[in-house]
Amino acid sequence: MNADGRTRLNQTPEWTALAKHREELGDVRLRELFAADADRGTAYTLRVGDLYVDYSKHLVTDDTLRLLRELASATDVFGLRDAMFRGEKINTTENRAVLHTALRAPRDAVIEVDGENVVPGVHAVLDKMADFANRVRSGEWTGHTGKRIRNVVNVGIGGSDLGPAMAYEVLRAFTDRSLTLRFVSNVDGADLHEAIRDLDPAETLFIIASKTFTTIETVTNATSARSWLLAALGDEAAVARHFVALSTNAEKVAEFGIDTANMFEFWDWVGGRYSYDSAIGLSLMIAIGPDRFREMLDGFRIVDEHFRTAPAESNVPLLLGLLGIWYGNFHDAQSHAVLPYSHYLSKFTAYLQQLDMESNGKYVGRDGREVEWQTGPVVWGTPGTNGQHAYYQLIHQGTKLIPADFIGFARPVAELSDELKAQHDLLMANFFAQTQALAFGKTPEEVRAEGVPEELVPHKTFRGNHPTTTILAPELTPSVLGQLVALYEHKVFVQGAVWNIDSFDQWGVELGKVLAKRVEPALTEGAEVEGLDASTKALVATYRELRGR
Ligand code: F6P
Repeated sequence: MNADGRTRLNQTPEWTALAKHREELGDVRLRELFAADADRGTAYTLRVGDLYVDYSKHLVTDDTLRLLRELASATDVFGLRDAMFRGEKINTTENRAVLHTALRAPRDAVIEVDGENVVPGVHAVLDKMADFANRVRSGEWTGHTGKRIRNVVNVGIGGSDLGPAMAYEVLRAFTDRSLTLRFVSNVDGADLHEAIRDLDPAETLFIIASKTFTTIETVTNATSARSWLLAALGDEAAVARHFVALSTNAEKVAEFGIDTANMFEFWDWVGGRYSYDSAIGLSLMIAIGPDRFREMLDGFRIVDEHFRTAPAESNVPLLLGLLGIWYGNFHDAQSHAVLPYSHYLSKFTAYLQQLDMESNGKYVGRDGREVEWQTGPVVWGTPGTNGQHAYYQLIHQGTKLIPADFIGFARPVAELSDELKAQHDLLMANFFAQTQALAFGKTPEEVRAEGVPEELVPHKTFRGNHPTTTILAPELTPSVLGQLVALYEHKVFVQGAVWNIDSFDQWGVELGKVLAKRVEPALTEGAEVEGLDASTKALVATYRELRGR
């Protein structure tokens, strides 16, 4: 029993039942499951919003799904979900509400945190963002010298970078192509250098995005960006026309020298990795315009409402979360691949890495005790078809079980030429072929029947049985992007709830930050740093020598 009155997850009857069921299923074959049920390919599908979700190619039966749902019920996933939507402080280690869903709530919704309705504030900021975005887009907001803003550089890291950077790529076809958007995150000076080297400072707007406004990478890059601007424009007053801030910390923004009138606010109940639909999305809104941004929020809301109200049997985020638990906890899968068949989703998996791994990469439960079960997987992947010519070999014939999500679209984006649009069928032929090959493989008999010499038969055999989810949408639109992101947000939520971990803190990133601060004087001044281990000491000495210090 836990301190919080819950039975340890791995001692619940539901967990034990799943372990037993896993044993009974043994090496169940997808070929057999499909042969036994002619309707499987349509029965094991769900729809949410524009998303058609096929989970038939999973190593599950009706019993598996029932047992997984029973686990979700025993761990009160829906109870925690309701507490989240109500604005309760379910981020217990930081004593904060978790309300990214309020960022896309309609104007007339009422969601209270500490007795205050947060929705009017959300819409006030959205309106202020829209007004500013329109002024930049129309040329009404000019730089210090009166020149039109043509370049927007978002300076932020983690959740203050990955979301808008990803979404900007995804929605490129909807962006104002006359604007150049760049994203600077790395404290490696090369990042800022490459982002600004060909820009005219007089035409450049910096958006400094940082929830805390204390993140060393962002503050450092922002300071260098300001020096670059002032070196060219030579007037402190220029900062007000070329720098705006996105933050929860007005005091630090003012301290940095940005007028808080040029600050777009959000709140401590928005986690960094759940924030790109808040003020953190300003760069995206400038690129795609407020209307498209609102369409994206509508997409988020479709999936929020589905997650909040759909019964367990048809609740897609619940299903996806539970499938991940099935493989991670009952098949020892260590990773999860997300393989979008859209070039525009090139940063989508990187975005999901933070969303999933910073949320659920934890070995301590809500009760303060170490968990005795696997938690979040390693999330990885790049767009198809590129991966097919790189690492798919390992997924097909390696020794590891890698469940994967395949995300594809029926229609190519509208602005492609007819010839390029025609390539879409080839892209999607690969998309469908891969999940088929992964699921059903190729038997030795099938290989032999092709006349392959016997010694090559084992090499050309595909065991198959690699589980995949296929997510198919009509077209890549702002709304569909919102739907996809909300789907993964809630999937991650489900898993954290079952594993009884706090998915909304990130203490694991702190130690490295503290140590970096301590080590820096050793590099720059050769200072004696207390407590350096022998390896790091020698590395620092070698670094200084190579650096010519
Ligand atoms: O170090 C991790 C982290 O706190 C993330 O959770 C966050 O998204 C990122 O740093 C950036 O933080 P901030 O927006 O406060 O600069």
